[in-house]
Amino acid sequence: MNVILFGPPGSGKGTQAQFIVERYAIPQISTGDMLRSAVKAKTPLGNIAKSIMDAGGLVPDDVVLGLVKDRVSQADCASGFILDGFPRTVPQADALICLLDGIGKKIDFVISLEVDSEELINRLSGRRTCSSCGKGYHVIYSKPEREGVCDSCGTVLVQRDDDSESTVTNRLRVYEEQTASLKSYFDNLGVLYSVPGSGPISEIQSKICSIIDSGPASDRS
Ligand code: AP5
Repeated sequence: MNVILFGPPGSGKGTQAQFIVERYAIPQISTGDMLRSAVKAKTPLGNIAKSIMDAGGLVPDDVVLGLVKDRVSQADCASGFILDGFPRTVPQADALICLLDGIGKKIDFVISLEVDSEELINRLSGRRTCSSCGKGYHVIYSKPEREGVCDSCGTVLVQRDDDSESTVTNRLRVYEEQTASLKSYFDNLGVLYSVPGSGPISEIQSKICSIIDSGPASDRS
C-alpha cells in the first residue's frame, strides 16, 4: 500500500504519518526530514538546501527526486510506504508516477488534509520538535508530559528554523503557487481523498483509517 500524505505546511502530515507507520507497519518517507538531516550533517546536498529551506522556498526537483528514488527502492518499502511532503510540483509528481511504473508499483491513496490558513499559522508557530528522534509536539494542542522535553527519548524540544513568522508566510504562498494544483492532478488519477484536517488528532486518524481500510478505489470497481 503506497500512500501520499498531502497538504499545506502545518496541515498535520507528519503527525498523521507517525500513526500510519505504527498501524500499517510501512515506513514514512519525509523529504523535509531527509533534507533537514542533510543540512545537519553539512553534506553538499544539505549546503544547497539550507538557504532555500530557511527562506521557505522549494529545493530543486532533481535534488529531491534523487533522494526519493534511492529511498523507495530500499527493502523496507517493498510492501508500501507513506510519502510526506513529496511530491510538491507537477514535475515531481510526473517523475514519481514514472518511477513507480518502472518498478511495478502505483500510488493507492493521496490523503489531502484540509486546514484553513489561520489555523496553519497557529500550528506552525507553536510547533516543537525533538532534536534527537524528530517526534513532533505543539505547545498547546499536543503537549509533552514534561514541558520542553520529548516523551519518547527525553531530549530537549526545539523550534524549527523555518517556523519563524516570515518564513511561514512564504511557505504558505509557495504551497498555493506550486503545490496546491496537485490536488486536481491526483483527482484526475482517481486516487485523491480529502479529509478535514482540523479537530482532534484521533478523529482525523479514524477518518484516514476508514479510507485506507476500504481499499483503493481501483479495487472497488
Ligand atoms: P517539510 O518538512 O515537508 O514541511 P511542510 O510541508 O512545510 O510541512 P510541515 O512539516 O511544516 O507540517 P506538517 O503538515 O507535517 O504538520 P505537522 O504534523 O508537523 O518541508 C520543509 C522544507 O523542505 C520545505 O519548505 C522545502 O524547502 C523543503 N522540501 C521538503 N520537501 C520538498 C520537496 N518535495 N520539494 C522541494 N522542497 C522540499 O503539524 C504541525 C503542528 O500542528 C504540530 O505542532 C502538530 O502537533 C500540530 N497539529 C497537527 N495536527 C493537529 C490537529 N489536528 N489539531 C491541532 N494541532 C495539530
